[in-house]
Parts: sequence; structure tokens; C-alpha cells
Amino acid sequence: MPTMEQATMEDLLKMLDPAKVPAHVAIIMDGNGRWAKARGLDRSEGHVEGVSTVRRITEIASEAGVKCLTLYAFSTENWHRPQAEVDALMHLIGIAIERETPDLIKNNVRLTMIGDFARMPQEARRRLEGCFNATAHCTGLVLNLALSYSGRWDIVAAARQIAARCADGSMAAGDIDEQTFARYLSTASLPCDCPDPDLLIRTGGDKRVSNFLLWQIAYAEIDVTDKYWPDFSKEDFLRALIRFQGRERRFGLTSEQLLSN
Ligand code: FPP
Repeated sequence: MPTMEQATMEDLLKMLDPAKVPAHVAIIMDGNGRWAKARGLDRSEGHVEGVSTVRRITEIASEAGVKCLTLYAFSTENWHRPQAEVDALMHLIGIAIERETPDLIKNNVRLTMIGDFARMPQEARRRLEGCFNATAHCTGLVLNLALSYSGRWDIVAAARQIAARCADGSMAAGDIDEQTFARYLSTASLPCDCPDPDLLIRTGGDKRVSNFLLWQIAYAEIDVTDKYWPDFSKEDFLRALIRFQGRERRFGLTSEQLLSN
């Protein structure tokens, strides 16, 4: 048996247990800028290369049987980057979405989004909406982009809706529990009864969650790789899934309790 590092794509697919593939994988795609800088290129070239990685990871996630892939494509904090980089990223995302729509349909992939849609530039909104509509009938992988998104934004938006319902009398404070609260988070709008992420992958080596899906990753397994996002391969993704399958998810219980269940 080859080691994980030596294993080919074919070996890795064989090592993967189809019954234990995480239903929802979330990814913090980091390192585009450093990838570009290491090559003496402009940061925007890193983002362009990052789009190719989005394409190949969508393909392999779909092939591996993942139900939902959430990608942190633009955070609330990213609005504070230099305006030229923000504009370039927004343009790139819109163009890529429009260009990839026929292939998404062909592969039965549905595009969805979480985040502050109203804050996105008009052109990007138009292109995104075109793709949401064109792929709404697709029943395979849900490719969910987190755009103008942050975990705190999500929680505050949910709290506002709940407060409004309490104020108009359609909800009482005592009705609020974890399940009720989660129904007001952006992820409640995802199709396919998407569960909270089982696995959170971060590229680029930093060991932090950067305001991503704060509520939803309560029990996610975390896998950090040093590779920059443009270098992240299909094999790297499969390795992360295989490492996930080796983890014991205890959800606060003991190993013994899990064994006796
Ligand atoms: C982080 O790298 C990456 C981003 C802020 C943007 C990621 C966006 C893409 C890969 C394009 C997404 C496209 C589609 C179609 C969804 P960084 O710039 O923070 O890198 P650094 O940490 O090395 O500076």
C-alpha cells in the first residue's frame, strides 16, 4: 500500500470509504497573494490561478460524493483591501461564474451563495443571479460561495430577524433555542438539507478560522495545509477527506460512549 504522499489519484479514490465521505466540506481558500508574490507576479494573478483551483476542487468534490462545498471567496473584511484588488476580485468572480455556468449545469452542480448579496456590485449580482437561476434544477453537488460573508455578520443578521419577531409578538424569547436560532442563519437557506460542515479545510498554513461560519463549525474537523490555494490539488483534497475518515468525532461524548451507541 503506498503512503498517502506517494498515492496516485486512483489509489486515493480506492482508499476513500464512500460511506464516510463528509456531506459538507467548507474551505478557507488562502494563499493566492503569497503564491503570486513568490513568483514575482501581481496578487491578482494569484486570484486568477485560484479560480482554476475552484474548478478542479469542485470537480473532485462532486466525484467523491460530497453533497455541499462551501468556499470562502470574499469575506466582509476583504472589502477593506485596496479598491483595485476588490474591483479585480469582484470582476473575476462574476466572469468566472458566467463562464463556468454551462459546465456546472452539465455536471449537475447547483450554485448558491451565503453572505450580504445586496453589498455585491451590480455586475457581479447579475452574473451570480444568472447562475443561481440556471442551476436551480441541478440535484448534484451544491457549490455554495461565501461572498461578503463573515460568521459574526451571519449571527447578527439572525439575531436581528429573531428580535423583530419577538417585537411583533410572533415569537417569544422562550421559544429561542439552538435549533430555532440556526433556522435564521444564512446556511438555513441551503438546499439538500445541508448539515453543518463536517470538515473545514484551510490552505496557506494559518491556523485560524478568520470569522468563517462561526456557529456552523462547532463540531467540524479542521484540516490545515501549508499549500497555497493555487497549488491545492485534487489529490490534496482527497487526502484531507481520507484524514477526516480517520478522525473520531465524539461530539462531546467519550470514546466508550460512542462504542456502546
Ligand atoms: C485569499 O488569498 C483568497 C481570497 C481573498 C479570494 C479567493 C477568491 C478566489 C480564489 C476566486 C474565487 C472564484 C470563484 C469563482 C468562487 P489571499 O489574497 O488572502 O492570499 P494571501 O494570504 O497569500 O495574501
